Parts: sequence; C-alpha cells; structure tokens
Amino acid sequence: MIHIPKSEYSRRRKALMAQMEPNSIAILPAAAVAIRNRDVEHVYRQDSDFQYLSGFPEPQAVLVLMPGRLHGEYLLFCRERNAERELWDGLRAGQEGAIRDFGADDAFPITDIDDILPGLIEGRDRVYSAMGSNPEFDRHLMDWINVIRSKAHLGAQPPNEYVALDHLLHDMRLYKSSAEVKVMREAARISAQAHIRAMQASRAGLHEFSLEAELDYEFRKGGAKMPAYGSIVASGRNSCILHYQQNDALLKDGDLVLIDAGCEIDCYASDITRTWPVSGKFSPEQKAIYELVLAAQDAAFAEIAPNKHWNQAHEATVRVITAGLVDLGLLQGNVDELIASEAYKAFYMHRAGHWLGMDVHDVGEYKVGGEWRVLEVGMALTVEPGIYIAPDNQNVAKKWRGIGVRIEDDVVVTRQGCEILSKGVPKTVAEIEALMAAARAQAA
Ligand code: GLY
Ligand code: MN
Ligand code: MN
Repeated sequence: MIHIPKSEYSRRRKALMAQMEPNSIAILPAAAVAIRNRDVEHVYRQDSDFQYLSGFPEPQAVLVLMPGRLHGEYLLFCRERNAERELWDGLRAGQEGAIRDFGADDAFPITDIDDILPGLIEGRDRVYSAMGSNPEFDRHLMDWINVIRSKAHLGAQPPNEYVALDHLLHDMRLYKSSAEVKVMREAARISAQAHIRAMQASRAGLHEFSLEAELDYEFRKGGAKMPAYGSIVASGRNSCILHYQQNDALLKDGDLVLIDAGCEIDCYASDITRTWPVSGKFSPEQKAIYELVLAAQDAAFAEIAPNKHWNQAHEATVRVITAGLVDLGLLQGNVDELIASEAYKAFYMHRAGHWLGMDVHDVGEYKVGGEWRVLEVGMALTVEPGIYIAPDNQNVAKKWRGIGVRIEDDVVVTRQGCEILSKGVPKTVAEIEALMAAARAQAA
C-alpha cells in the first residue's frame, strides 16, 4: 500500500512549529465518532488537519504542539490500552504506541486531559486552535483557559491571544509534497480503474446503483477504505442534477450516464467524472455536447502552469463553452457579450475546479490580497467543465434537452505545466466507444 511515510508527519509538525509565534501552543482534536443510528456508528474518518500532523488514526485524541519545550514539543493525548474494549472494538495504540509508532515525544491518557492540559497552556502567550470548526472542543478549550484564569491570583498566567490555526496549516496543506502526489496518483489510478469497470459494465436494464457497485468493487479491491465523497451515478435527465446521489434509476438505451466518483487513499481524495452513453454509442447531439466539454477541458489544461492565476483555467472553459453553444445554436448573440452577461450560466453554472487534497474540496485560499492566487508547483486541483441542458429548457430544440455532460480530471501543477493524475480513463468519443464495444464483444 502506498501511504504517507512517518518521517513526513514529523517534517510537517516541524514546519508548522517553525511558523508559530514564540511561546505559543497549538491544540487540535481528532474527529469525533458520529452515531449513525442507535448502536451503529458511521465509518470513522480522521479529521484532515489532525491526520495531516499526526497520521494517528484513532478517535478520542488531542494533539499538542509546544515549540521550544525542552521536555518534548509533540504531545499526544489518546485512549489507554484496554483489553476488554480492544476485544470488542479493535486495537489501540495506547500511550506507548503513540510514542513508538507515531513519534510523540510524550503521551498521556485522554481521560487525564483536564488535569494536564491547563498546566501545559499556562504561561504560553498564544493558543493556536481550529476555532469554530468543533464547537464542543472550543468549549473544552475555554474551560481549560478558565481553570488557569481562576488561579490568576496565585500567579497563573493565562494566554492572551487566540489564533486560528487554519491560516498556517491550510496554506501548508495546499502545497503537495512528492509523497502526497504519489498517494494522490494512486488514488486517481484506482478511481480510473473503477470508471473503466463501470463503462465496461454499462447496459440498458441495469440500475444506476449497479454501476455504483462496480465502482465500489474497484475502490475496495484497490485498498481504499471508502469513496472520497458520495458517488454520483446520474443517467438520463439526472445528469443535469449536479449533486445527484439517489443512484436508483433504470439505465436506458439512448441515455447518457454521468459518473462523478473517486476513492480516498490514506485520507487523500481523487475526484473523477466521466460521461458515456448507456448503449455504448453517442447520438449526434450527445457527441456534439461531449466534444465541446472536452475542448473546454483541454483549453483549461493549457492554463494550468506556474505563474498563471487560478481563474485563467475557468475563464478558458467559459470562452470555449460559450462560443461552442453559439455554434450549436443553443445560445444566440455575440460571444463576448454572452460571457459578460453570464448567459452561459444557464448551461454551465459551476466553476471549472477546486483545490484537491485530503478534502475533496480542499483547503487553501483562492484569492490572496483580493487577487486570484497564482499557481505554484505542488498545488493540486480538479479541472471539471460541464454542460447541462435542463429537461424543461424551452429555449432550445427538444433534441438537446436533458443532456448533461461533465468531464473531470485531477491535476498537480509541475514546473512545466501540470501532470494529469487521472489520465488512466478513456476520454475521447472514439476511445470510449471502442472500450465499450470491446466489453460488449467479450460478453457476447
Ligand atoms: N464531486 C464533487 C465535485 O466534483 O466537486
Ligand atoms: Mn470536483
Ligand atoms: Mn467530482
């Protein structure tokens, strides 16, 4: 299994601590376990920030960074070993494991945090935390601070500055290291395989969920614990619902099916969309729209390179799509004016992409000082133009209605331009039709 090496977590903690103000402390909780219903829990997924700094996979843990502390800068509060609980729920690292396997300088039982943490915070000037993202933890933090305040008459010094950790941490997360790119390449490779399998299995008479099952099979077989987000398998007019997740309609000949799905490896997402005809053969209208979206995506790739700004790729897709819709007679007028009036938004209502990383819509600012961010080596993003012709759009000829096409790939900015991580899935009309025809011939 490809994963982030232990040494990288240590490097990240050091890099964060180097950016923290002197005499400060950072405190970050693990994700809480979420109850699904009664005794059933949702599959546990670690908090991305916590994971980024620790690689520690358990709930009920709190990470503490204290730059410059002589007795250890990295402390972990976590669950104690417990033979009975481990018999029921699985192994725990315990404090020994936290030190031995996860590089903590010191570790304490999570049940002792109320006794220990106020003493660690006391005397530090600044507290960095993920303010606002976990209200219950924010309350705990204030409780610990109040313990210190209540002892002020004894000379205790509470911190005076509370700083959101996001700004430093999320900027770090925006730049992917070579180890991160390797993991993202693997996630994209498995997801590409999943899309191919779904293409090969596509038949009228199956349901959307049948194709979802093909995706899940490849995800799990590839070692992914779960999809990075709810898979979208949208056939026919459902392809015009951007975040469709019902996935229970019947697949019909003559319809397109749009699949937006990607797996997660070691907490890194992939996010791929392909659209293909259920029957294996595009109709002339479907082909025209498909090739327009593909041309928009190609134009966007050309705008992804160091020193180009974030919005250039989006602007390129808007221009190609607007001009193409005019050529096809779906929009009427002057291309520049249609762009200025945002007339294209009736067909293309989302942006061309987003940052990609541990979160599918990853952290990182899109603008800096009011200006679109300039792309730099190591930034990862999606490129996902689409055209969606509403089934009830009375302004276009009937033959166009209900066609929805999105094509989405994952890229990382390189010195020369960008690397497409998800290039393993066929994309041209000819490639898709050939792949599907071969699958049918084999099945016959
Ligand atoms: N799958 C969600 C997105 O493409 O942004
Ligand atoms: Mn996306
Ligand atoms: Mn997507």
